[in-house]
Amino acid sequence: MKEKLQEIKEQAMKRILEADNLDKLNDVRIAFLGKKGELTAVLKSMKNVDPKERPMVGQMVNEARESIEKFLDDTKKKLENKAREIQMEREVIDVTLPARKNPVGHRHPNAIAQEEVERIFIGMGYEVIEGPEIEYDEYNFEKLNIPANHPAKDEQDTFYITKDILLRTQTSPVQARVMEQGKLPIRMISPGRVFRSDEVDATHSPSFHQIEGLVIDKNITFADLKGTLGEFARQLFGEGTKTKFRPHHFPFTEPSAEVDVSCFKCGGKGCRFCKGSGWIEILGCGMVHPHVLEMCGIDPEEYTGFAFGVGLERIALLKYEIDDMRLLYENDYRFLKQF
Ligand code: DAH
Repeated sequence: MKEKLQEIKEQAMKRILEADNLDKLNDVRIAFLGKKGELTAVLKSMKNVDPKERPMVGQMVNEARESIEKFLDDTKKKLENKAREIQMEREVIDVTLPARKNPVGHRHPNAIAQEEVERIFIGMGYEVIEGPEIEYDEYNFEKLNIPANHPAKDEQDTFYITKDILLRTQTSPVQARVMEQGKLPIRMISPGRVFRSDEVDATHSPSFHQIEGLVIDKNITFADLKGTLGEFARQLFGEGTKTKFRPHHFPFTEPSAEVDVSCFKCGGKGCRFCKGSGWIEILGCGMVHPHVLEMCGIDPEEYTGFAFGVGLERIALLKYEIDDMRLLYENDYRFLKQF
């Protein structure tokens, strides 16, 4: 019995020494001290021992158990310390490393251009008023003198939601909405998103932005329109910028014009930028059609006014010399961070 105990004890010590992690150590504990462990088996066989020797054998078993337990506990502490050290080493923080920079976002070229245009018109006493992107056919077309059978309706490939509701194809419906409110005089611009079912390419997108302008008051003439847009062009593209008004047609203005600015790259001599012509087209405008005034509840005998519509992307592309509109929508940080 004594030898058997000695042997169990040596076996246990050996396996404790071999255990190199806490799981293995626990296995050893179970193998010797667990319910079905080797030392437990010895304890259970005590009933076979001669009663006279039982106290002595019992003491030996207890001693063996105590020394195995103590060795297990000591080893457990050592292994736990080791595990903690390894963890500490892994989680070490090198405070001398340079701090990581978080890239800071900033305004999109469209947003910068819009703010620039708003700043110029606010400086001339205009209000900024926004209108809905989902619009009635009535405001997008009818009240702007574009009746159901008008060819201009086909020109602006419209996304319809129902027969009467659509995604606005232009910011011009905001004109009708503001005029209808009847607070005169009016001096407003209206920036916003518009939609047309166009294929995507370098100069087209199914969703882009316009800025609408509208002035209604007594005695407003084409001279006011020319003066205002001339000043706008000079503030946007530089002091020396000239403007040219070419006759054009829009259903909601009469007379109508398209406005070109002298090329701010070559000063009008002709270059790659203006395709050799010296001029760059930037917007459409005209005197608000008397019929439109009437439909929106304003007496054309008493009031006149002018309107204009600028493509925001066009301004952004020109100002920042970007040659593909798609870049404005891809939101590639490497592109955006240049502005
Ligand atoms: N709405 C026109 C378009 O989408 C732009 C425009 C032209 C607006 C002349 C106007 C204007 O207010 O007077 O092409």
